[in-house]
This record gives sequence, C-alpha cells and structure tokens, in this order.
Amino acid sequence: MKISYAEIDGFKNLSGISFEPDNDYNIIVGPNAQGKTNLLEAMWILSGCRSFRGSKEKDYIALGGNRMSSKIKMRDRVREQKIEFEMLRGTNPQKIIHLNGVKLKGTRALFDVFKCIAFIPDDVDIIKGSPEKRRSFIDMAASQLNPLFVVHLSKHNVIMNQRNVLLKEIMQGNAPASVLEVWDRQEAHEGSLISYMRNDYVGKINEICGRLYKTISGGSEELEIEYRSNVFKPEDFSRPCNDTVYEQYYQKLRDTEEYDIRTGSTHAGINRDEIVIKINGVSAKDYGSQGQIKSTALVMKLTQAEIYRSRSKESPVIFLDDVMGELDEARQRFVFDIIKGMQVFLTTPNESAILPEIEGKILRMSGGRIVDEQDCIPTHRQ
Ligand SMILES: Nc1ncnc2c1ncn2[C@@H]1O[C@H](COP(=O)(O)OP(=O)(O)O)[C@@H](O)[C@H]1O
Ligand SMILES: [Mg+2]
Repeated sequence: MKISYAEIDGFKNLSGISFEPDNDYNIIVGPNAQGKTNLLEAMWILSGCRSFRGSKEKDYIALGGNRMSSKIKMRDRVREQKIEFEMLRGTNPQKIIHLNGVKLKGTRALFDVFKCIAFIPDDVDIIKGSPEKRRSFIDMAASQLNPLFVVHLSKHNVIMNQRNVLLKEIMQGNAPASVLEVWDRQEAHEGSLISYMRNDYVGKINEICGRLYKTISGGSEELEIEYRSNVFKPEDFSRPCNDTVYEQYYQKLRDTEEYDIRTGSTHAGINRDEIVIKINGVSAKDYGSQGQIKSTALVMKLTQAEIYRSRSKESPVIFLDDVMGELDEARQRFVFDIIKGMQVFLTTPNESAILPEIEGKILRMSGGRIVDEQDCIPTHRQ
C-alpha cells in the first residue's frame, strides 16, 4: 500500500502540512527538533496502533492548541481509501475517526486498513530491554497479521486487571479465594490461545530472521529466536489447543495462587513469557555487541515487513526514523533491498549520509512545517 496524500495540522509542533508522497522514497530532512519524527508519528497513528515512541494521546494536540488532525489517502491493490483522525482538546480528549467519510467507533478497525512498520533507534530495546519489550514486539507484530490476536489480548488484559484487583481484596480479607476460579478458567482459555499464537509467530520470525541475519552479518553469524512459554514446554505446542491445554494453564495459575494472593499480582501465565534471542548460541541481550544488537533489531523489523507482505500480498508502508544515517553503505543496501517496492518514509538530519542511489521526494522541515519539497535528487547526491 502507498500513501498518496497526507494532511496534518496541530499534531505536536506540526502545522499546515500537506503533501503528495513519492511512491517509493520520501526523505525527510532537517535539523533536530523540527518535527521529522512527529511527521512519521502523525501518519503512523492512522494505523490504529499506539505511538511508536510511546507518546500519550493527550500529547498529540499541540501545546496551547485546541485541535489536531491527521488525514491520509492511501491506495492498496483494491482501492483508494481515506483515513481521518481528529482530536479536540477537552478534559477527556475525544478521538474522531473517519474511514472513507464514515465515522468509526474506535481505532481498531484501522488495523485492517493501513499497515505500517516503523524502525526507530529505541528498537534496540527489543533486544536489550525487559522481557515485556520483547513480548510487546511479538504481540504487536502478530496482531498486525491476525486481528483475532488483539481480541484475545484485550480479553486477557481485562481478566488480568480484574484478577489482580481480586487478589488484593482476598489479601485484605474482603473476598474468599474461591472468587478466583471463574476468572482463572477464562484466563486459562485466553492465555492458552495467546501462547499458541505467540509460539506460532516466533517460529515464523525465527526462520526469516535467521536467514536475514546471516546475510547482514556476511554469513558468519547465526541468529535464533525462541519462545519460552511460562506454562508450556516447546513440545506441548504440537498438541491441538483444547481442553487438556486449558487445564494445564489453569493448573499453573492455581500453583502460584497463594503467592499471588500474598503479593497482590499474578505470577504465572503469558505475562511471564520470555522470548530468547541468541547470536551464535549465546544470549544477544547479555553478550551481544552494540552492532550485533542494532542489526538484530533491524532484522526483526524487516522480518515483520516480509511476513506481512507475503501473508497479505500487500506491502506495508515503512517508516525509518533516524536510522539509515547510522548504517554503513553495505547495511543500507541490504535494508533497501529487502524493502524494495515498499513505500518508505525516512528521516535524517544529514541527507548526504543516505545512499546516493536512493531517489525520491525530499521534504525539508523547519519549525514543524515542510519548507521545501523537491522531486529530484539534489546535485550533491547525484
Ligand atoms: N504537544 C506538543 N506541542 C508542541 N510541540 C511539541 C509537542 N510535543 C513535542 N513538540 C515539539 O516537537 C519537536 C520535536 O519534534 P521531533 O519530531 O521529535 O523532531 P525531530 O525533527 O528531531 O525528529 C520539539 O521541538 C518539541 O518541543
Ligand atoms: Mg526525530
């Protein structure tokens, strides 16, 4: 899919932006703090996902402003669609979302419409950060492929919140421990399904990541990604996900129940899963060099794009925030090779760091506006 038109106003420091992106490469250039990342973010939120840099929705509206809007027209193989996202300042800022002129209840339906993948410098946290970072990478990626994943995950979140409230009540003696049973049964169901889906997705990315990483490391290094379920052993996943499996999950919840009640939080299940990333057989988190960690994060994101493309026969839009300039020429070529044919938006403070053969639209930003737009490559990059 390709964005054919974008119009943004009042999102953070952006104002009066409207442009027709290039089908292939869009290079957003400007000094720091001019709004380059904001521009990517304003388009990204139209995918229905939370901000890729963790911004809160209430901060979407410019300080001192009353309204933000971000609109795109995008084409996929079938048709052109229009997505509009508007927010008005208030005690409880309201999102107003339209798809092709029809008002939507929330952002979830956008999941199926506009797919994009962002690579940002903080993505090294997928490798270096807490297990939660890795789980949410897998969950976000799996959700993009399978909207059912999101449904189970939100049910799981509701159940977990409820369970944790009850644990505290029980701890304080305000409820009997037996109230957990009904929630644990439901959680066993949701948690098992999510475990299976995580296992499935990790299996897929392991295969592709391994291949891509081999290429990027010049054939000398092996990358492996493994799913460590808190409940199931790897061989358990060869069984169908049925009542026996739910029972096993339920038992695991019961096993830690006493401790859960004492501490007021849940210690078993998918919130305790780990995704282990290894280079040449040892943990990348503990032993990887900076370069290895950066390449691993990149490969994981590119894998996500590749899986999405082969599954849906549709290419996601790619956002590369401040990452290309840091890669040497060989690595840049490797990246551009994999995302060939996809529409790319990349930001950089230094356009001469981008490979000279990358032709497309150059958007120069200053003070939250596009101050110059060029269709050809500038002379010093020719
Ligand atoms: N809610 C907001 N209202 C107005 N300006 C904001 C808001 N949030 C961030 N900014 C401004 O946006 C700018 C940073 O934009 P960013 O896209 O991160 O820059 P860069 O070009 O370095 O990627 C900063 O000047 C910051 O003060
Ligand atoms: Mg930036």
